Amino acid sequence: MSEFLQIRNVTMKFGELLADKDVSFDVPKGMICGLIGPNGAGKTTLFNCIAGYYAPTAGEIFFEGKRISGLPPYRIARLGIARTFQVVRPLKEMSVLDNIMVGAFLHHASAAEARKAAERCLDLCFLEEYRNKPAGDLTIGNKKRLEVARALATNPKLLLLDECVAGLTSTEVHDMVQVIKRLRDEGITILMVEHIMEAIMPIADKIVVLSHGEKIAEGSPSVVVHDPMVITAYLGEKFARKLAEQKAAAGEGGAL
Ligand SMILES: Nc1ncnc2c1ncn2[C@@H]1O[C@H](COP(=O)(O)OP(=O)(O)OP(=O)(O)O)[C@@H](O)[C@H]1O
Ligand SMILES: [Mg+2]
Repeated sequence: MSEFLQIRNVTMKFGELLADKDVSFDVPKGMICGLIGPNGAGKTTLFNCIAGYYAPTAGEIFFEGKRISGLPPYRIARLGIARTFQVVRPLKEMSVLDNIMVGAFLHHASAAEARKAAERCLDLCFLEEYRNKPAGDLTIGNKKRLEVARALATNPKLLLLDECVAGLTSTEVHDMVQVIKRLRDEGITILMVEHIMEAIMPIADKIVVLSHGEKIAEGSPSVVVHDPMVITAYLGEKFARKLAEQKAAAGEGGAL
């Protein structure tokens, strides 16, 4: 059993609405884990429970063996968990570098140290050429990578990415995927929510599927995409057909 991130029987209720229902899974260290499922399945709510924005109604979350459910967001951030938001929120008037420095102040008291840390994040997220631009002037693709860089500046061990390629062009999706792989190679564990299967399936080590707040599948991408329950609840017959065609074209050695 992994001692890194453990989600244990997490339930989150909003009044009568059960957003997450008895959800349990582990994210082992060093892994890219995908969290997928239809709109309203409870993915962002689960992120909010992990990052401390909500205290789960029931269940527990452990990070490196320590119970974190119920702790406030700033304490969870200090333990090494950072998250991005589904809707990007840069400080529009401030430069790209200054936006990233805000995150770096979590662990660095001096501006010089925070700048140095921020510059490394700038580089890791392919944002060097925009360092002095106001964040509000960036394209959506660059804003999404800035959102990742801001989270990265808090020096996380675990990064929660909420739909970081939604709305991007295929070139921008490709750039983001390169960034995510670089972060994994740096030793950062990643839990990512995503609807774009082409982005998540090739890089994920493991996929967890939520539907109506419940975990309906968990396993390697190649197993999960062929699960009849996942096809019915989320991927759809069209996706399954496309996959079968791709597999036939690639021979039995196809990626998925
Ligand atoms: N603060 C809240 N108060 C009341 N209901 C909420 C709240 N946050 C989420 N919900 C409800 O909980 C359910 C799960 O929402 P959530 O945002 O977690 O879904 P999601 O899987 O992230 O969906 P999407 O793919 O559309 O982003 C939805 O029915 C949503 O309306
Ligand atoms: Mg969401």
